[in-house]
Amino acid sequence: MDSIRLQFPILDREINKRKLVYLDNAATVQKPLVVLKSIQDYYRLHNANVHRGVHTLSQEASALYEEARKKVQHFINAESDQEIIFTKGTTDGINTVAFCLGENYFSAGDEIILSTHEHHSNIVPWQMLAQRKGIQIKVIPMDDHLNLDMNAFEKLITSSTKLIAITHVSNTLGIQNPIEEIISMAHAKSIPVMIDAAQSAPHMKVDVQDLDADFLVFSGHKMYAPTGIGVLYMKRKWIDTLLPYQGGGGIIKTVSFENTEYVDGALKFEAGTPNIEGAIALGAAIDFMQSIGMENIHQHEKNLHDYVLDKLLQSPQISVYGNSDKKAGVISFNVEGVHPFDVGTLLDKMGVCVRTGHHCTQPLMAKLGVQGTVRVSFAVYNTKEEADIFIYSLQKAIEMLC
Ligand code: ALA
Repeated sequence: MDSIRLQFPILDREINKRKLVYLDNAATVQKPLVVLKSIQDYYRLHNANVHRGVHTLSQEASALYEEARKKVQHFINAESDQEIIFTKGTTDGINTVAFCLGENYFSAGDEIILSTHEHHSNIVPWQMLAQRKGIQIKVIPMDDHLNLDMNAFEKLITSSTKLIAITHVSNTLGIQNPIEEIISMAHAKSIPVMIDAAQSAPHMKVDVQDLDADFLVFSGHKMYAPTGIGVLYMKRKWIDTLLPYQGGGGIIKTVSFENTEYVDGALKFEAGTPNIEGAIALGAAIDFMQSIGMENIHQHEKNLHDYVLDKLLQSPQISVYGNSDKKAGVISFNVEGVHPFDVGTLLDKMGVCVRTGHHCTQPLMAKLGVQGTVRVSFAVYNTKEEADIFIYSLQKAIEMLC
């Protein structure tokens, strides 16, 4: 743990004269020195545009960029690096899928199934598409423990269902959804599935071949890389059949004023100069995570989750949302009669960073009947000592507010 924490100088900061305890990792994680160094090395030694030059720097930049694509391929066990498209992040990836399928695949009267757990980024792009194309959106409800109701899901599937777009792990509740079962039920009826892995890829092993996902998206900034870089995994058959979302340089074989012929593979979806340093830094972040091991990361965060959950459940004033055997390191709760912003503000005064509010899941908040929650979320660098500081600070905040 000491060597891991040394990678994150920001953790030495003080906030309001208290030791920083950063527990807002589902929003974004802090960046290790190896990732910062990869960005600096790229600009100090190799900066040039990719896939456009015969000169040495361009060749080096292109090699580093493509090496990062291979690292992502192996990280999620894709069959080919040509199934890995670099994006700005999860939202960009989902919008790309929505637009590409909207142009090439959907027609009026089709249906898309989402779930109550979805982040706004996996609702709004589909709603925009639904309004443009006359498509209907159906939503998987939750059971009493806030897990997805799989019986209800089965009944939502009809002959008009053309896509299921679902989050792997709820960003608000931390519940891990049974996507293996969902994908296999969908594929039995030849329905493709898009997985939002923003809250799973940084915290557990995700294997796109095992899952047999058609599309899977995640963000670099939640997995120790910078903001502005993300990944859209697209199964090869979709890469080959869909047309690009954006036109421009880098995606073409030939262009005339009459016609354009696109390149094959992932580059078809990467118009314009890409986020080269972001992709390289994402590769460094993957190296960092793999040097620790995804199983170890998952177990460490789960231990912290279980420890904190146990303490929270002991307080009669606290309601924790969601109960599942399969959870990532995320806990949402409220203190009875207290606005979550007040809890978050007092915790910040004691150096503890948590997220408060609706967490970009307003439909879920409406089902819970609350405006918002307090959310703690763990990363590999968090410690049991920090968990204790959080619990102690929360008790102090409750004493002040109640
Ligand atoms: N999606 C991020 C979160 O859950 C921003 O906080």
